[in-house]
Amino acid sequence: MSTQTQRTLVLFKPDAVRRGLVGEILSRFEAKGLSIAALELRQIDAAQADAHYAEHVERDFYPPLREFVTSGALVAAVLEGDEAVEVVRAINGATDGRKAAPGTIRGDLSLSNRENLVHGSDSPESASREIALWFPNL
Ligand code: TYD
Ligand code: MG
Repeated sequence: MSTQTQRTLVLFKPDAVRRGLVGEILSRFEAKGLSIAALELRQIDAAQADAHYAEHVERDFYPPLREFVTSGALVAAVLEGDEAVEVVRAINGATDGRKAAPGTIRGDLSLSNRENLVHGSDSPESASREIALWFPNL
């Protein structure tokens, strides 16, 4: 089977920082075998939130989402490994923490459709765009 080393953009959202779950979540990615290409604590403004969530800015759920992602510090990371984009999405679990499977980050640690702890790029193309946005010097 062919293998493809990829990089993906991961956010540990403000609920992860507030709840003291950054270490727990990072441990899961590291234990899986992904490596850290970049990792930084950030506080983002509305413009950065809009750029990151460009595909969602017109959605009904976006205003409270923007409020949430700008509500406190978050940790932005680039993780690298074989099929990293899909692997991170699987580890994160379904968007809605109430429905996410046990064993996933959201399934084990979130009970919310908004405050769901993590972001992972949804395709290699999204990963390229998001990594350039968050870590332009990488
Ligand atoms: P989305 O890209 O659909 O989910 P994912 O993070 O799994 O790729 O949505 C982006 C974020 O928007 C999601 O993580 C949580 C938030 N969101 C809501 O607050 N309400 C919603 O109804 C949806 C679909 C998402
Ligand atoms: Mg998404």
